[in-house]
Amino acid sequence: MYRPAPGLPGRRWIERVLSSSARRAAKRDFMFDVLPKGGVVIEVGVFDGDFSERILALNEPRILHLVDPWFTRDDGTLYDGPTQDFGSGEAASAALEQQFQLVSQRFAKEIASGRVVLHRMLSHEAAPLFPDGHFDWMYVDASHFYDDVKRDLGAFFPKLKQGGYIAGDDYDRRGIWDHGVTRAVDEFRSGHVAETIRLHHHQFLLRKR
Ligand SMILES: C[S@@+](CC[C@H](N)C(=O)[O-])C[C@H]1O[C@@H](n2cnc3c(N)ncnc32)[C@H](O)[C@@H]1O
Repeated sequence: MYRPAPGLPGRRWIERVLSSSARRAAKRDFMFDVLPKGGVVIEVGVFDGDFSERILALNEPRILHLVDPWFTRDDGTLYDGPTQDFGSGEAASAALEQQFQLVSQRFAKEIASGRVVLHRMLSHEAAPLFPDGHFDWMYVDASHFYDDVKRDLGAFFPKLKQGGYIAGDDYDRRGIWDHGVTRAVDEFRSGHVAETIRLHHHQFLLRKR
């Protein structure tokens, strides 16, 4: 459970989320025993960049593309869920802008060297930017609603090399998306275009045949 450090009473929401998201990121480390190092990688849905940092440290990709809109819809709602954490559309917009700035600062050195590339856009806008067979592995973790996961798997899978890996979070979790990830991933798995490597700790890890 999160407890503020002594002397730091009113910490902001983003700092509370950061610590829990860092713990969640560490639960996925088993994947790094399988995923090839030194490749071209994409994380779709980045949030605060905790997992991106872990990818950089443990997987040492040659290039890591990071895709997230870090903005709300025009009506102030989020693409992946309700806005009540923020109270209003304006507050949500301001928080996402702040998150984008934090991620930009966090990876400033890698962005300057070209090792990290930020794509501040929606997943379905980002996918066509890459040629087919481009990525060694990908982590698809944007909106968890069924239609969105289905669309993202369909859009990004062709961008993966043969033998490359596609992974993501919140498999076998109901959440507010009524098992959106589970349903879309199971449907995808039933197409036999990918071999299931592991379903563990709410992660799915598949390998392109
Ligand atoms: C679950 S979080 C990602 C967490 C991150 N992968 C990690 O492991 O720390 C989901 C993110 O997806 C982003 N998102 C929502 N809809 C999206 C879309 N259509 N395209 C790209 N990103 C999206 C949200 O802004 C949010 O930051």
